[in-house]
Amino acid sequence: MKIVVKTERIEDIKTDAIAIGLFEKQGIERYKGLDRAADGLISILIKRGEFKGKADEMLFLISPAGLKAKRMLLLGLGVKEKFTIDKLRQASAKAGQEMRSKGLKNFAMPVLSIQEDKKRIGQAIAEGLLLGLYQFEEYKTEKKEEKKIDNVIIAVEKREDEEKIKKGVKVGEILSEANNFTRNLVNRPSNDKTPIMLADEARRMAKRYGLSCRVLDEREIKRLKMGGLIGVSKGSKEPPRFIILEHNRNKKGLDTIVIIGKAITFDSGGISIKPSENMEKMKYDMSGGAAVMGAMMTAAGLKLPLHIVGLIPATENLPSGTAQKPGDVVRMIDGKTVEIISTDAEGRMILGDALGYAKRYKPKAVIDLATLTGACVIALGNDAIGMMGTDDKLKERIKRAGELSYERVWELPLWEEYGELIKSDIADMKNVGGRPAGTITAGYFLSRFIEGSPWVHLDIAGTAWEEKGSPYKPKGATGVGVRLLSELFLNWK
Ligand code: BES
Ligand code: ZN
Ligand code: ZN
Repeated sequence: MKIVVKTERIEDIKTDAIAIGLFEKQGIERYKGLDRAADGLISILIKRGEFKGKADEMLFLISPAGLKAKRMLLLGLGVKEKFTIDKLRQASAKAGQEMRSKGLKNFAMPVLSIQEDKKRIGQAIAEGLLLGLYQFEEYKTEKKEEKKIDNVIIAVEKREDEEKIKKGVKVGEILSEANNFTRNLVNRPSNDKTPIMLADEARRMAKRYGLSCRVLDEREIKRLKMGGLIGVSKGSKEPPRFIILEHNRNKKGLDTIVIIGKAITFDSGGISIKPSENMEKMKYDMSGGAAVMGAMMTAAGLKLPLHIVGLIPATENLPSGTAQKPGDVVRMIDGKTVEIISTDAEGRMILGDALGYAKRYKPKAVIDLATLTGACVIALGNDAIGMMGTDDKLKERIKRAGELSYERVWELPLWEEYGELIKSDIADMKNVGGRPAGTITAGYFLSRFIEGSPWVHLDIAGTAWEEKGSPYKPKGATGVGVRLLSELFLNWK
């Protein structure tokens, strides 16, 4: 789909349809010209109470006299005081979806006059459209693809705004493309995304975007003594992989940031097997790794002046005669020993090794993303990422990026008292701290593998999968983390 930004009056655009957003109790506001051209149609509808501008209200009109466009969609935006950039994302998504459902190929929409940076407005519109129109169709024999929008025109009032909006649209396009790439990986079933396949996908993406990519196989993983990753992988015939992506690998003088993503391509729980109900969803246990791949794409696409390293430990977690068992003790990359209480607490095992591996880069920041705990879903639900970390400045930066991307984070404490819960009688620590504070003890476990660098852990168990579907998050994988990390990088300075 192409998004074109033009300085043109909306009533003059020849197109299949125009989408007009109207606030509640604001009248026609700046659409006087449009209203006049349409012989007062909009103001009549408002006066008669046919259209009130309430959030979620929609009215589709055919062949409005006086307009160059063949159809007009009126979209309620709710009260203006409560309008936000994220509501603009949502409204753009709804407009796109409504037009697509009508089988239209192109439409135009004006830029709303709201008090926001013009670049951000352009970005939000592009994100709403591209994220909202996402469909996962890799496995549908009959594609819905025939209903596809080819062109959207964003009509700008003042020529001086055009450049800024164009720039924003470009950023929105890059972020959305990466976000949807991540969604594709997460939605894909586990039989088509084994660790080897995921590594191939990373290599292909890296080549296309000019990133460097190295994939460690079992031999190298063993040589590095990544006991956590090896232990988890023992239950599966599919060998593990450790994927390393790098942006600006050979440039000197740039800040280094390491991002790490959990990629359990299927989490059955292992010997501590999960109940079968909903187990099919555990294909999304690689969402952290997929988000890292997406964020690396945007780093390259935006040519960010940072040295960014993406680390993705990838394995299946299955039960078998060769699987690791509760009670086993494994030695991690840094020599620490861990007593396995539950083989289902596997994410922290593979992340511990990746955090240990990250040290060699002496990074300015380390951020890991993982669908780490069911407890995070209980604590925060589906609208907040659980955040823990060691550095206030980095946490502040991530909070801000969370607001901008609307992938919001909420901090949980990492007090040393929580360390008591993961003390082991026979090893340096155990991998489970019991039911209380399950998200925090997992975070605390990870903190033991960090040394010297500011670090933040993001638990995305509740935010990586959308159960019902919302305007720009269709049912299934959300691709959470891609835009959050991108906004962090974009505003790093
Ligand atoms: N992948 C799961 C966490 C999860 C659960 C993600 C539900 C998304 C939705 C993780 O590996 C896991 O199984 N964690 C256990 C930890 C427990 C054994 C301490 C959990 O949350 O039950
Ligand atoms: Zn698990
Ligand atoms: Zn898991």
